[in-house]
This record gives sequence, C-alpha cells and structure tokens, in this order.
Amino acid sequence: MTAPRIRLARPVTGEEEVDAIRAVLASGVLTNGPRTAEFERVFAQRHDVAHAVAFANGTVALAAMYLALGIGPGDEVVVPSMTFISSATSVLHVGATPVFADVDPRTFNLDPGDVRRRITPRTKAVLAVHYAGQPAAMDELREVCGDGVVLLEDAAQAVGARYLGRPAGGLGRMAMFSFTPTKNITTGEGGLVTTDDAELAEALRLLRNHGQSALYRHDVLGWNWRITEMQAAMGVVQLGRLDGILDRKRRNAAWLTERLGNIPGVTPPWHDPRTEPVHMLYTCLLDERRDEVLAGLTAAGIEARLYFPPAHRQAVFAGIDADLPVTEDLAARMLSLPMHSRLTDDELDEVAATVERLVTR
Ligand SMILES: Cc1ncc(COP(=O)(O)O)c(C=O)c1O
Repeated sequence: MTAPRIRLARPVTGEEEVDAIRAVLASGVLTNGPRTAEFERVFAQRHDVAHAVAFANGTVALAAMYLALGIGPGDEVVVPSMTFISSATSVLHVGATPVFADVDPRTFNLDPGDVRRRITPRTKAVLAVHYAGQPAAMDELREVCGDGVVLLEDAAQAVGARYLGRPAGGLGRMAMFSFTPTKNITTGEGGLVTTDDAELAEALRLLRNHGQSALYRHDVLGWNWRITEMQAAMGVVQLGRLDGILDRKRRNAAWLTERLGNIPGVTPPWHDPRTEPVHMLYTCLLDERRDEVLAGLTAAGIEARLYFPPAHRQAVFAGIDADLPVTEDLAARMLSLPMHSRLTDDELDEVAATVERLVTR
C-alpha cells in the first residue's frame, strides 16, 4: 500500500532539535542529567504545576501514577473505553482492575453520571482521559469522586489544553502526558507526570529510577522508566514550538468545522465552551456510511482512522462485560480526519471536498 499523500498527523521538527540532540551527544551525559531536569522545569512552568517527572513513555507514566498512590490488586480504577488501550492496560500492569465507564456523546469524554454508577467501595481512582485534547468535565468528575476517590488525568493528547482557563495537567491529583509522534509535540517516545504534590513527585522519581534514593541505595521496588537526555533536549525545543503549532491547528480545525458543518450527515467535533481544546485529533461523526467514507478517503490518498476501537472490545479484556451503549454507538460512526499544523489550505480543501463527495453520493 502506498503512503497517504495527506497524513493524519505530522510532527514539526527542524534544525533546533538536531542542534539540541547534538549538544547532548557532545556533553557525554546521555541519561539522568540536566536536560531531563530542564524539560521537567519548563514543562511544569508551562502547565502551571509545581512538579513534572519525565518518563520513557506515557504508558509507564500511567502505571507510575497508580503505584505512587499505592493502587494494586483488589483496587478498581474507572476508565473510559473510548481511549487508547494503555489507559486501561496500565491498570492491569499494577495488578488492579479497570472498570469501564461510558462517555458523553458530544465530547467522547467520561460521562460523570455513568462514572458515579460504576463507583464501588473498591474504587481508588478515576482516570479522566482528555479525548482529542479537549479536557473532560473535571468539575463534575471532581464532585463524583468526592474525598474518597482520586481524580487523575490522562492528558496524553492534551498538552497546552485548558479548562476554565487552567492548563490540563493541573486539574487532577496527577496527570500523564505522552510525546509519541502523533501528539502535538513529540520526543519520539516519551511521557511525563505533573502534580502539585511534592510527596507524590518524590515517589514518582523513585519508581522511575530503581527505587534509588542515592547511588546504589534502593529503598523501594522501582523500574528503569527513565527518559534519555536526547529526548528531553528535544522536548525542550518542542515545547518552544507548542504555541505556534496550536495556533495553526486551531485555525485549521475552525476552518474544517465551518466547511464540514454545512454537509448533511457530518457532525464536526463539539466543544465544551469551558475548554480550550488542542485538536490532537479531529474526530467527526458520520452516519452508517462511515466505512465507505473511510475507504474512499484512503483510496484518495487521505489518511483517516478510527480513534479508537473501544478498549473493552479488545481481546486483552475478554471476559469483561461492560455495558457501554454510547461508546458502542460512537465507535460505529466516528472517523478522525487529518489534523496537523502543516496542512496547507489546499490540503484542507481537498479533505473537506472529498468527505463531501463521499457522503453525498
Ligand atoms: C489517551 C492516551 N493514553 C495513553 C497513551 C499512551 O502513551 P504512550 O504511547 O506514550 O505510551 C496514549 C498515546 O499513545 C494516548 O493517546
């Protein structure tokens, strides 16, 4: 199969990243050094939180959040099924049980009313995934969680997003970010946890580095979940690009929404007015012709994808019988279209025109 002409996502990288990585190589310090500390400092500052702890990827960062809270066998964590698989498998990684909750049909984020119904005496945390970079209904979820359940953010897709003016990453007790190449900023692979809680930040640092509090002193069970200095140096440069990337994506998303909103049978993404989303994905709802439209776009060289096939339907969760009618309905109708900062006006126009041709024929 030939590579699509119009990609779903495209990272922005340039000479600055090359220079930053070259400087790391010249320094000889390739892990656990000053670039990791700098990436954490600038990331925390940008997201208005006290602490940031960088990890090798977002999936281990999620597991580290659970471990830092002492979540393990016998405990439950409420997660959406409309997400990337590791929002849920990371719960299994620490021996706890994921409990799937349904989502709001407009935002694809956790439905607080359904979360309330899934909470049991064993529930320790709720993981609010910010789908496509639009923050979840954090006020309502906080109320549902009350004092007894910890509210966490899966902000993998939400670098730079805001909720009632406050950055994602500071809306729950801890938040996880991911920097794979489809995200708005990337380090190739990479993850990070933000928190205002100094004790949790310290626990996260120990978990990341073999439980090591001083050289060869291992106080607790830890892992090697470190990010490299090359990735961290790249992350600092990428963070400097974030506002430019988001400006461009907001413009592209607004343009596409105006154009697609006029086509019968196409529902562009809906935005909760409390949020400033970052359009990591641009996910529309179509009618029963979704699969035809996907095939037509692919044939036309335009990359489109189903983000996400519900997690609870995956073989890894066989035996879990979750009743999630909204998630199932969305999964049958949703389609994510190309959305990145390097899309040209002509490409945007081609995406919209092709969707229009496919849904109206
Ligand atoms: C919502 C969500 N959660 C978790 C992850 C996992 O992050 P990573 O791929 O860095 O392990 C991703 C991205 O891949 C994601 O989109």
